[in-house]
Amino acid sequence: FSLHETFPRVMGARVRKVPVTDGFGFDADAWRDALAEGPKLVFLANPCNPTGAMLAAGELERIVAGLPDTALLVLDEAYGEFARSHPGYPDGLEALRRLDRPWIVLRTFSKAYGLAGVRVGYGIASDEALIQALDRVRTPYNVNHPAQEAAIAALGDPAHLADTVRRTALEIARVSGLLRDAGLKVVPSAANFLFIDTGRPADHVARELHHAGVIVKAWREPGYETCIRASLSTPGDNDVFVRCLTDICAKDTP
Ligand SMILES: Cc1ncc(COP(=O)(O)O)c(C=O)c1O
Repeated sequence: FSLHETFPRVMGARVRKVPVTDGFGFDADAWRDALAEGPKLVFLANPCNPTGAMLAAGELERIVAGLPDTALLVLDEAYGEFARSHPGYPDGLEALRRLDRPWIVLRTFSKAYGLAGVRVGYGIASDEALIQALDRVRTPYNVNHPAQEAAIAALGDPAHLADTVRRTALEIARVSGLLRDAGLKVVPSAANFLFIDTGRPADHVARELHHAGVIVKAWREPGYETCIRASLSTPGDNDVFVRCLTDICAKDTP
């Protein structure tokens, strides 16, 4: 997730990115090598943005076991609500609670709760001192009163959340299937978006989709320039996306 890189850079950090496997999964060797460099801060998003891939319980344990003593682990569960029903998805809080080391779990109301516009989320940390340190450097007006009220109301409506998660999972499975049937490579997603290798320059595909009224993100990092990330929507909107994408790909054989 780009801000895991941007904010540390703003603070003068040297950022080391850990690659994924060719299948867009967790690369245990790459993580071992990166952790051996002695990072002070380790960001891990589970599920991962942009791939939607999920780290299973055993994989999370391996990363935690390899953390240097000096490292603060930040486990970003922005899409955790979508992944929780997937077999093997670890409850990050449960996993980290047992540890005698500093950690923070990040959650947000921007994704499964659908409240991105109100800008509210929360962190759960290993100890009081860490929370106080964050409190000293946070901006003074960071979460406004209506946002806090909205968050509390959202927490009080688990049925709405469960319905959103259930409907999203159905659409993720349905749209993934349609795109794979059309010959596209789709990363298995435990989130509410899909990472798709279109086999064509992603910038071109995204521009064509935009002309048709569909906005996706084209990937520009070396090695991924044929990939797009698309957040899913209602079944009707998703059908428009599938039709436009398959039309573009049929027209422009690489
Ligand atoms: C992994 C991850 N963490 C955090 C965020 C941002 O969440 P918020 O809207 O709460 O700032 C995003 C948004 O795309 C994300 O993908």
